[in-house]
Amino acid sequence: MQDLFNKHTVKMKRPMSVAAAFDPRSNPQRGGGAIAGCHVIVFGNEKGGSGKSTTAMHVIVGLLREGYRVGSIDLDARQGTLTRYFERRLERRNARSSDLPCPNHRAVFRSDAATKAEMEAEERAALGAAIEALAPEADVLVIDAPGSDNYLSRLGHSYADTLITPMNDSFIDLDLLATIDPETLAVIKPSVYSELVWETRKQRMIRDRGSIDWIVMRNRLGHIDARNKRDIAAILAQLGKRIGFRQAPGFGERVIFRELYLKGLTLLDLVEDGEITLNMSHIAARQEVRSLIDQINLPPLSEIAQSSGQL
Ligand SMILES: Nc1ncnc2c1ncn2[C@@H]1O[C@H](COP(=O)(O)OP(=O)(O)OP(=O)(O)O)[C@@H](O)[C@H]1O
Ligand SMILES: [Mg+2]
Repeated sequence: MQDLFNKHTVKMKRPMSVAAAFDPRSNPQRGGGAIAGCHVIVFGNEKGGSGKSTTAMHVIVGLLREGYRVGSIDLDARQGTLTRYFERRLERRNARSSDLPCPNHRAVFRSDAATKAEMEAEERAALGAAIEALAPEADVLVIDAPGSDNYLSRLGHSYADTLITPMNDSFIDLDLLATIDPETLAVIKPSVYSELVWETRKQRMIRDRGSIDWIVMRNRLGHIDARNKRDIAAILAQLGKRIGFRQAPGFGERVIFRELYLKGLTLLDLVEDGEITLNMSHIAARQEVRSLIDQINLPPLSEIAQSSGQL
């Protein structure tokens, strides 16, 4: 298949000077944003398979359809979920001469350098190069992080103005956010992923006095097991106050996501595309996507354009 995107930004042996010179601190003018003229949304959760890439693709397409210029970065290039999705979408667009909106996209591979210092330098340079290539043409930059903890993922998190954490509605997913008392369901202490976010927030504050708006959204909500749903809602309300996140309305369990992935489509494309007939469940699902986008509270386009000197 034709290589539609630049997937090889980390293959260089030494950091590119231009990328090394890219310093988010030098551009703090947009309301504490890490990158000037660009709002950065990171999708992160150390739990694999929680819906980060699925949510990212829907938010990206939703924002494109609202008129935002969007750049996207796949930080899990080896797995390449988001990258393959946009490859399929571009192929579909080209084959059908349709006007499916697509972001400018980059995939960043992890480094295979011999030492930790070299590895980190290469990954810093690679992510810096991807940001530098996308940011000038983007109002919003979306970063899809992997479902595991590594240097590249942490680096990606450090650029977030908004961090969105999808989680499945289960105690297994909750365990990465907090240790819960099995008897009383009280929060005993924050756990690994919450600590990662805490560290990232600290670094961000020291680096550019910026803050990260953390949103946790419950994914794959089912109609059954109302008790489990209630328990998780109560715990998240408690935990959000303690470790500083807000909750956004989540997505229900939707079989159609798998079909859409293979076609490079989202729920927001169905009317124009015409291949899948919209039913009530799709309309409800589309509303869930729009509600999530609303909850992000992005600055209006005019404000973004102003801050990047376009007006
Ligand atoms: N709301 C949903 N309803 C039904 N299936 C879903 C939903 N959200 C995600 N899925 C499915 O769950 C699987 C994992 O989703 P996805 O790849 O988005 O997760 P991820 O967090 O990005 O995973 P990873 O950590 O491996 O990157 C996919 O098959 C996807 O289609
Ligand atoms: Mg993913």
